[in-house]
Amino acid sequence: MAACFVRVTCVLLALPIRWGLRAHLPLHTCSYASSSPIHISTCYSSWTETLEGVCYFYKKAIYNRIDPSVPCQKRLQMQCSENESLTEVAMRYMHMDSSPIFFVDMSVLAKQIKRWKQNLPTVQPLYAMKANFDAKICQTLVKHDVGMEVASKLEMQKSLEMGVPKTKILFGAPMKEESHLVYAKENGVMRCVADSKCELNKIAKLHPESEVFMRIAVDDREARCRFSSKFGLFREEWPLFLQHAKERWVNLCGVSFHVGSGGSSPLAFFDAISLARDAFDAAEEYGFQFKNLDIGGGFSDDSKDISSFEDVATAINVALENLFSNKDNVQFYAEPGRFFVSSSHTYAVSVIGKRDLLPMHHINSHEIEKTGLENSTASAGDDAEVAVWINDGLYGCFNCCVFDHAEAQPVDYVLAEPNHRHLRTKVFGPTCDSIDVVISCATMPCLEQNDIILFQNMGAYTRSSSSRFNGYGYYRVVYLNSD
Ligand SMILES: Cc1ncc(COP(=O)(O)O)c(C=O)c1O
Repeated sequence: MAACFVRVTCVLLALPIRWGLRAHLPLHTCSYASSSPIHISTCYSSWTETLEGVCYFYKKAIYNRIDPSVPCQKRLQMQCSENESLTEVAMRYMHMDSSPIFFVDMSVLAKQIKRWKQNLPTVQPLYAMKANFDAKICQTLVKHDVGMEVASKLEMQKSLEMGVPKTKILFGAPMKEESHLVYAKENGVMRCVADSKCELNKIAKLHPESEVFMRIAVDDREARCRFSSKFGLFREEWPLFLQHAKERWVNLCGVSFHVGSGGSSPLAFFDAISLARDAFDAAEEYGFQFKNLDIGGGFSDDSKDISSFEDVATAINVALENLFSNKDNVQFYAEPGRFFVSSSHTYAVSVIGKRDLLPMHHINSHEIEKTGLENSTASAGDDAEVAVWINDGLYGCFNCCVFDHAEAQPVDYVLAEPNHRHLRTKVFGPTCDSIDVVISCATMPCLEQNDIILFQNMGAYTRSSSSRFNGYGYYRVVYLNSD
């Protein structure tokens, strides 16, 4: 508790200092987050399958045209100078081609893998691929012995193609399409999840040999994204479920839960593990000897959450040690998604236009733009003086502002003309829809067309759930190593 308090205090104290310092930096050369440079050891560029047209890459100060017929995802060794800040790299890349770029820092991913292994050594992580299915990220996780939690046939297929051992793939969706379950059976994926009699019937019919986790509903009130209204069995429902599983000869093998995604506390995990213990005991009364506990996702990515991953891990370890003794031989699993990927991505987008805002623009705007405003820091009366349009929005990778209850966090800017003016700015996405508001009002430097904004912590639930509405939503991906 004391450690937790110290951490919270440090974060609160550090934030204004960091932003205060940044306000004094010359913005056209401003640095990324702090003044320390990002060291780029190797930098690759890849293009997503869907990115069309001509791409450019930087090599020895020359922009070379890449033949569009070159297979996508082809990796190119880049020449990047050491000690370049990420902002400077963004400036170079977007000078010739203003389309958005994700900068993926692979050393952040490596750091998160290490943190997991240090803090939760007895819990086998199964990465929730839905958070971000970037092949390079998934392959790196697999190389480090991380398994996969998959939600569908396609995700299962991708995991199998990557060589994930079948024993480390969990089909984690509690309600599955029949054909997906058949695919699991045909491909030897033996582990899945259920929380209804309907699903038990499906499993008994189509994949009777599979080992099934009973998903229980836990208290997820603290989480930004809650799941208990859709998934999980409440305690009152356990007896009927267990009885049905017994009658249909379903091979129940353990318990899974999810405390909700984003913002979950040590206590939420502790209470959920206690409830899982009760489920183990209840199952025993129906003749099931559970040997697996899956503690789900919901692990902090540190950027927004008050409890650190280390605090959460401490609570989990205490609960597991005290409630599941060694002699029970229970295997522990988890399904982290955002923890691994969120902070690995910085997203650079271009300003494609701007206009001044007059009082008449604000009439009804809060009503019209409801979806965007819901998650915004702005309140009524907090009206912007100027609006800028950027080349991705809520229908693209900023869909996290809607579905993931995220707030877009600008971390740096590249300005063609240095200036020290700050304006209350509204940031629109590029599409025809008026709800496409990425930020409804925030103080920003005075932005002009072709300036660049960098957003941090854009790795989770961004790329994986983005659409191509209005022909936007295309981006480039640059992998780098800041260590
Ligand atoms: C079944 C399941 N497992 C794991 C996750 C990953 O959660 P998180 O990204 O919070 O770790 C999710 C997120 O939606 C999920 O639905």
